[in-house]
Amino acid sequence: MGSFSLVSAATRRLEGKVALITGGASGVGESTARIFSKHGAKVVIADIQDELGHSICKELNPQSSSFVHCDVTKETEVENAVNHAVSKYGKLDIMFNNAGTAGAAKLNILDTTKAEFEQVVSVNLLGAYGIFR
Ligand SMILES: NC(=O)c1ccc[n+]([C@@H]2O[C@H](COP(=O)([O-])OP(=O)(O)OC[C@H]3O[C@@H](n4cnc5c(N)ncnc54)[C@H](O)[C@@H]3O)[C@@H](O)[C@H]2O)c1
Repeated sequence: MGSFSLVSAATRRLEGKVALITGGASGVGESTARIFSKHGAKVVIADIQDELGHSICKELNPQSSSFVHCDVTKETEVENAVNHAVSKYGKLDIMFNNAGTAGAAKLNILDTTKAEFEQVVSVNLLGAYGIFR
């Protein structure tokens, strides 16, 4: 066995796995989607940025990636994203609970309204709670 086959095996470490990535349309989530796809995973990008999400899936292999609109603050949309992954690819192996925001919250809490803070908590904290339920 030459070194080439060892390298190939090493670069497809997620072959056959199905991954759902919240907040996968940009930043850390987008990079994760690209790397997971390169490693052979079927990737579902779940995000509120529909255009970006669709365009990333077009760039990745369209057979093995798809976008689903999902606002993690809405439990029904999270449920829909999970169902989308399972119905499209038959299972769900990896859930990357990455969606997050600083929202309109300011660095100084005295300049941040309660509503702005609640929005951040609803995405970053309750969004994760909804996913694990
Ligand atoms: N970048 C950093 O330095 C850093 C540091 C600490 C923690 N984080 C966390 O890492 C994660 C990714 O950060 P990033 O820098 O890639 O941010 P980013 O803003 O580039 O990406 C976040 C993604 O989450 C999506 N998103 C926002 N609200 C959403 C919602 N309600 N439902 C679904 N998707 C939603 C956005 O559309 C975006 O695509 C976040 O949870 C962030 O809080 C980032």
